[in-house]
Amino acid sequence: MRLLVTGGAGYVGSVVAAQLVEAGHEVTVLDDLSTGHADAVPEGARFVQGSISEPGDTLAGVDAVLHFAAKSLVGESVADPGLYWSHNLGGTLALLEAMHERGVRRIVFSSTAATYGEPERSPILETDPTRPTNPYGASKLAVDTALTAYAGLRGLGAVSLRYFNVAGAYGRYRERHAIETHLIPNVLKVATGERESVSVFGTDYPTSDGTCVRDYIHVADLARAHLLALEAVTEGAHAIYNLGSGAGFSVQEVISVCREVTGHEIPAVLGPRRDGDPAELVASSAKIQRELGWKAERPALRDIVSDAWAALSGK
Ligand code: UFG
Repeated sequence: MRLLVTGGAGYVGSVVAAQLVEAGHEVTVLDDLSTGHADAVPEGARFVQGSISEPGDTLAGVDAVLHFAAKSLVGESVADPGLYWSHNLGGTLALLEAMHERGVRRIVFSSTAATYGEPERSPILETDPTRPTNPYGASKLAVDTALTAYAGLRGLGAVSLRYFNVAGAYGRYRERHAIETHLIPNVLKVATGERESVSVFGTDYPTSDGTCVRDYIHVADLARAHLLALEAVTEGAHAIYNLGSGAGFSVQEVISVCREVTGHEIPAVLGPRRDGDPAELVASSAKIQRELGWKAERPALRDIVSDAWAALSGK
């Protein structure tokens, strides 16, 4: 297929673009490089630096769009909500208009667990209430809502994948954020000597050891789900799938696995809660397993951390 990958110079987008090229698809990456890296665009893909608001000729002759380009920092979204509404919702609506004008009728969209907010139960099902607690999650939920409407109105075919905590690496493709807020890369940066210690945000949550519990999914497993979603997109329908490994690990458990993998003592400093963190977020991925035949191939946290460590340290 001829495909447009927005945000294909970012972490998840570059891994999916690489897998699409490997599968024989013709890939164009559109990325404004505001957070991505040009050298993350895989060999074999065409790269166009630009905005999703003006995709122009990048949509010519395209069979489907995989849409990753977005602002994705929860804390930044609370401090500057307008940025999130304009990029994530405004930018996506402009992209959808441009797709409509060009007759491109299929999209796979990066949604998030942040659409659910504080869950009532665990694991979370796609039918559970969506009550985002920050503008990042709200802007992604608004896009999901628009996709449902456009499927009904215009016959668009859409699949939204709601990512839980993505980690790990795929070959040379790894997480490289200028501002790193995510737990696993921050813990591993202590082992490389880039940081002195890791902060544990909150030790009084109602979990087994008092620290937050998350569902970590390997980026290569997450990426494979996009290829399955692409095959499954049906014009006139919008499907939503959660994507996680189905098991929860606490912050302390993650740090402990990072210690085992790196052989570094990794000092941890216990601190107060970070605003807006739910105690536990674990996905039920039963729907995507049932409907698309997806299965995590590297669900073990040790494998996820090992692959992230190998890409970061070169070991
Ligand atoms: N944490 C620490 N220390 C750190 C970094 C994180 O203790 O240095 C804790 C956080 O408080 C949280 C857990 O580790 O309890 C995981 O934090 P991350 O920042 O790695 O991930 P989040 O669960 O906050 O965020 C992820 C995605 C978001 C998405 C969100 C859904 O990265 O894009 O899940 O709630 F919105």
